[in-house]
Amino acid sequence: MNKPEVILLAAMSIDGFIAPLNQEHLSSTTWTSQEDRQFFAKKSKAIGTMIMGSKTFVTIGKALMNRKTIVMTSQPARFANFSDPNLLFTADNPEKILTDLNEQGIKQIALCGGASIYNLFLQKGLIDRMFLTIEPFIFGSGVKLFSGSVGQIQSKFILVSQEKLNDAGTLVLEFKKA
Ligand SMILES: NC(=O)c1ccc[n+]([C@@H]2O[C@H](COP(=O)([O-])OP(=O)(O)OC[C@H]3O[C@@H](n4cnc5c(N)ncnc54)[C@H](OP(=O)(O)O)[C@@H]3O)[C@@H](O)[C@H]2O)c1
Repeated sequence: MNKPEVILLAAMSIDGFIAPLNQEHLSSTTWTSQEDRQFFAKKSKAIGTMIMGSKTFVTIGKALMNRKTIVMTSQPARFANFSDPNLLFTADNPEKILTDLNEQGIKQIALCGGASIYNLFLQKGLIDRMFLTIEPFIFGSGVKLFSGSVGQIQSKFILVSQEKLNDAGTLVLEFKKA
């Protein structure tokens, strides 16, 4: 299948949560560092096209500037009041979305969560690269990076770069599919 490179972007706690318990309805920018917010903005703008689930979109509530956002939902009609040309709501499966983007000449997409979307693409072996920001917090419980994942490892990745973003120790780890 010809498809754009799928690049997962996520921020998580040391213990692997992408949202703390009872704050699932809030955008991750409520707890991530300023440096990670800058990293995400720069990286997602450079990639240009984002894919996210409807729950993550609702935490943001709007199109992000200078990027195209594709929102996965079983009910696109629920979002008919959003008329921004940079927003697309679709019930298509990942393969169809990626094939269509490939035909439009899109070379890369940023996979922006949440957990169900990360997991869906992981299970289908569609993730090529990941930038995982580790924020130096422990949440104990919340939304896991790949929640709903079956116990079997589906993909192996190798570390290709690491960057410390600030004195608190926020780390960005870049992995690519082995
Ligand atoms: N820290 C980070 O980097 C980061 C990044 C992103 C999100 N998050 C957090 O992750 C949480 C949300 O994650 P989540 O897993 O609950 O929700 P989500 O993945 O953002 O969205 C789930 C929704 O996506 C749609 N969907 C899922 N699979 C689909 C498919 N195969 N076809 C069509 N639509 C599909 C469904 O929408 P409908 O219900 O509309 O059908 C589903 O309810 C939030 O707390 C958010 O803050 C964190």
